[in-house]
Amino acid sequence: MLIRRRSTRSFASRPLSIDQVAVVMWAAQGRTAGGRRSCPSAHALYPLTLTMVAGNVDGLAAGTYRYDAERHVLAPVADGDHRDRVAGTTLADHDWLRQAAVLLLLSGDMDAATQHFADQPPQGCRGRRYVWLEAGHASQNIYLQATETDLGAVLVAGFDDDRLLGLTPAVVPSGQRPLALFGVGHPADRQS
Ligand SMILES: Cc1cc2nc3c(=O)[nH]c(=O)nc-3n(C[C@H](O)[C@H](O)[C@H](O)COP(=O)(O)O)c2cc1C
Repeated sequence: MLIRRRSTRSFASRPLSIDQVAVVMWAAQGRTAGGRRSCPSAHALYPLTLTMVAGNVDGLAAGTYRYDAERHVLAPVADGDHRDRVAGTTLADHDWLRQAAVLLLLSGDMDAATQHFADQPPQGCRGRRYVWLEAGHASQNIYLQATETDLGAVLVAGFDDDRLLGLTPAVVPSGQRPLALFGVGHPADRQS
């Protein structure tokens, strides 16, 4: 699977199924045995939140949803198709990102992590460092699960933080920092 992982920047108009979306979200943050998750987390703190900006998912209204990892369900946050507004925050204004069936945003609670790891040097930095590392683990999980599910995905970390933060709380959870944005959908070069 690793050998097939690639970034996809051209998406077909076919909708994703709920099952396809669910398995990718589970890969990013899903619960595993003993209350742990699919990706590692320093002190099992789990400071990340996964938000889905859905625009083209069969049977799911366009809107933003937070992934509840404990219950493996989606909690609706805001109605309407927010993909254009989110894609518009990218530094290179990636037009093709608007065509992805869903956008996935990983955000992190930097304050909670900073506080939790306050006794570890370098003071005030350790918690944030751990959050970024964890976002990297979750990001690779998204890439690999998308590959396994024959979906296209691309990590877009080049976004304007302030503009994306302007989409709080519909897209970015209150008090969190946006870390990694993904476009996910059927790749344009595959018909079925
Ligand atoms: C930290 C990071 C940030 C990235 N940001 C962007 C981005 O803003 N826009 C984009 O199109 N691709 C982005 N990418 C994807 C890279 O461009 C891509 O991984 C690289 O070209 C290698 O291609 P591959 O993923 O197909 O192997 C990013 C990748 C990483 C790891």
